[in-house]
Amino acid sequence: MPMKAFVDRENEFAIIRAFVEQACAGQGGILVVEGPAGIGKSALLDRVTAAGGPATFIPLRCHAQVGQLEAYGPLLDLLAQMEETRSRRKRLLRRSGESFRSRWPELLTLVPSFGPTLKMVAETLSGPVPGAPLVDNRMAARSIAEAVLLTLREKQPVVVMIDDAHRIDGSSCAALSYLSSALADQPVLLVLAARDDELTDNPPARHLVEDLCLHDMARRLRLGGLPVPAVAELAQLVVGRQPSASTARRITEQTGGYPFLLQYYFSEEKTRLALPAAAVTLGDVGNELAGNSNPESGLADQVGAVIWARLRRLSDDDLRLLSVASVQGREFHSKVVARLVEQPHDAVATRLHRLGKETRLIYPVEPDDWDESIGSDRYSFEHDLLQETLYRDQTPSQRRERHRKIGQVMGAYSQEHPEPPQEIALDLVRHHRMARDWLAAGRAAHDVACRLATTGASTREVVAITAQGLDDIRRMRGSSEADRLRAQLIELMLTASELSWRTRPEADGTVRLEALSTEALAAARTAGDIDLEIRIRYLHGKVLLYTRGVPAALGPLREAWERALHSGNAVSILLAGCEYGRQLPKADVAAGLQVLHQTETTVAGLPEVANNADPVVQRARYMLALQLGISLFDAGQIGPALDRLRTTIPAVRLRAALGLLPIGLNYLAQVEAAAGNLAESEALLTEAVELNDGSEPDGWHAVNLAYLGTRMTLDRAEPAGLPLLEQARAEAELTWQANLAPLVANLYATSLIAMAATNPIHYDTARQILEECLSETRRTGMRRSEIVALSLLGRLHLAVGDTMTADGYSAAAVDKLREVDWRLAAVCVEEVLYHHSRIQEARGDGEGAHESLRLARAEVLRKAGSLTGPARERFLQAVDLNQRISAGHG
Ligand SMILES: Nc1ncnc2c1ncn2[C@@H]1O[C@H](COP(=O)(O)OP(=O)(O)OP(=O)(O)O)[C@@H](O)[C@H]1O
Ligand SMILES: [Mg+2]
Repeated sequence: MPMKAFVDRENEFAIIRAFVEQACAGQGGILVVEGPAGIGKSALLDRVTAAGGPATFIPLRCHAQVGQLEAYGPLLDLLAQMEETRSRRKRLLRRSGESFRSRWPELLTLVPSFGPTLKMVAETLSGPVPGAPLVDNRMAARSIAEAVLLTLREKQPVVVMIDDAHRIDGSSCAALSYLSSALADQPVLLVLAARDDELTDNPPARHLVEDLCLHDMARRLRLGGLPVPAVAELAQLVVGRQPSASTARRITEQTGGYPFLLQYYFSEEKTRLALPAAAVTLGDVGNELAGNSNPESGLADQVGAVIWARLRRLSDDDLRLLSVASVQGREFHSKVVARLVEQPHDAVATRLHRLGKETRLIYPVEPDDWDESIGSDRYSFEHDLLQETLYRDQTPSQRRERHRKIGQVMGAYSQEHPEPPQEIALDLVRHHRMARDWLAAGRAAHDVACRLATTGASTREVVAITAQGLDDIRRMRGSSEADRLRAQLIELMLTASELSWRTRPEADGTVRLEALSTEALAAARTAGDIDLEIRIRYLHGKVLLYTRGVPAALGPLREAWERALHSGNAVSILLAGCEYGRQLPKADVAAGLQVLHQTETTVAGLPEVANNADPVVQRARYMLALQLGISLFDAGQIGPALDRLRTTIPAVRLRAALGLLPIGLNYLAQVEAAAGNLAESEALLTEAVELNDGSEPDGWHAVNLAYLGTRMTLDRAEPAGLPLLEQARAEAELTWQANLAPLVANLYATSLIAMAATNPIHYDTARQILEECLSETRRTGMRRSEIVALSLLGRLHLAVGDTMTADGYSAAAVDKLREVDWRLAAVCVEEVLYHHSRIQEARGDGEGAHESLRLARAEVLRKAGSLTGPARERFLQAVDLNQRISAGHG
């Protein structure tokens, strides 16, 4: 951007400099520069950068038009910029720490200029799996924040300035939120410049700024109009003569000292003075302003008027060229414009070059790799307001037709020169939408969302983009292509957001998730694509699992699995088998284990699976391994379960972006605890809990928190465990997932009962929780949680001396277990039996107690049989329950 006359802003400049100095002294922070469009935010930042100083200045911008959808837009620009300035020897991967490296590969590929090369390196480091999230938003955001900090370390002290932050994407906001907490003792100053009114329309950005200010982590700096002396000075600088004091005052009043208007007026004035016939004086500027604007007409009209005063001097051809260019956006390509005006590129390139030099309405921008690959120059309009004015001056049909052509041209370029930067891919979607070319818009949205889901770590934007694509597809009449896209878009949206599915019904009683998966199922069926249909069927089963519980889900899941086996398609078999095999054990452990084994052996080593880059497929691969581990445990085979999970977890840790780590750690923690390795279990749970900062509710965080709290109270009688459980319950309530909430409730109750010996009030809380849990599990058919709740109610009533009621509950639990032949996932049979025997004993039923204890002991011995040597000893000696069972009478 060419430098322009700049006046005043001395106070603001001094404030920013003070922040810079403070950062240099090791006390970083955040500064938000605010004000309306054209008030001079960018100009001020440019000024600060140009003045140079004790720090490295890194100017960044959020891209016009697509900013809010561009996951990590400015931060990836920052990483790319830094990487370019770094010597080869020092490049990032050599220097990064272990945990960082493991999360980095997927994120890397978002940066087009160096993604592919570094990704190769990353793959050799972390194994042969290309990107594969289901990504956990928070972890990704934190990784990016870490990456940014790590990168900045080489340049410290450093001032990072993000301009146009009102357009920033939600993922960047999440990363900045992490970053902000690290800044206090880092020599890093972050400056965000934003239009205040538009900031309000961007919720993640608004929340970020409000939150930072609330916690005193950021300061706001508001820009207003220029004062009279500054206006006079600007006139002098631009026009070359000093206005009278009264004229300067009048102009200031009429423009509000608004720099954008002033710049345009004064440069207009300068041009007029240069014309031979011009007999105007500077005073006329003010007159014209007054004439143009009645007090009612706002700033926008004045802006339009001054811009047109300049545009009117262009030839018709030049004006048309810029008009067309404004449809592409604030930045545009000479190649695209040439195609639209149907003229040779060379001629258009020459005219744009001349326009840039003579008018300053546009200026050239450094082309990136993609621009170069399509052989185009890239230009930017001098100001957003200029592009907006030109764009608004076209009729709707003109705009639509131009968007349509731009969509076609850019679409073709993206085919010939693949891997366009994220911003270009998103812009393509926008042009198709503006042209109302719904099918193309949906397809482009699916492409870019897929790429983002595979390579990126930004669920938020994946969901936003797919939702938009879905909206588009719904606007058109059905065709098999549209139906396929509709199903695919829903599939991607639901899969990407699984970690935060909300299952509560809307006000009208519908459950949005179910409505979506049902819509996808219908669409996949009409599209006539068998593999897609199988995948959607299993997705639908999964949704039902969350919304209605296991029994409702098993039907569609079994169907998907049977169809998959019939089709012989390895990927379908894996996906359907993984999910069915994961849910079936909740009703039938042995049958579930068998489905998992069959799936594993069927797809083992098949390249369609092993080399598949689809994140959904990769996730299923690892999920299958974890599920086999926990199912072995549920079947009482503690030894094999330990072996399998201990070997799988390191691989899952390396692929943290898959989003499976919270699940895997939980499984292993459960088995370690059951084997008597209590400290190991607690450490794993601590690791799992720390994966999430609790800022957004997520079901697995709640579960891990609950398990951790339980370990603390049960193993160490540590009262600090209870608040964790309370928090877990609140979080589980928020996500309201049918399969997780009762689990958490039961864990909480277990700990309350254990701690009630010293504080009997806990009995009341526990009773209330268990009774609620019981009615909830009866409604959703979560049998295992129902049995556990019954047994716990039995224990509770025994403890308060109500043996009759205790027996009623506990016997019901035992009966239900007997019905399933003593095998049910996630239910510790010997525990239920042991406590039942105590209740029976209290009631004087010695024989019954004896029998229950005998069964419990048999169960313990059966499990011990899967262990050998010291592990077996440990299981029998270090697990409190097992000891009590073997020491018990009977
Ligand atoms: N202090 C100043 N002195 C002289 N000219 C200025 C000053 N501040 C801004 N301008 C001019 O006013 C115009 C608008 O300024 P700028 O682009 O910085 O506004 P902005 O607040 O960044 O607007 P937007 O929100 O649209 O990005 C530019 O032409 C700029 O050169
Ligand atoms: Mg600006």
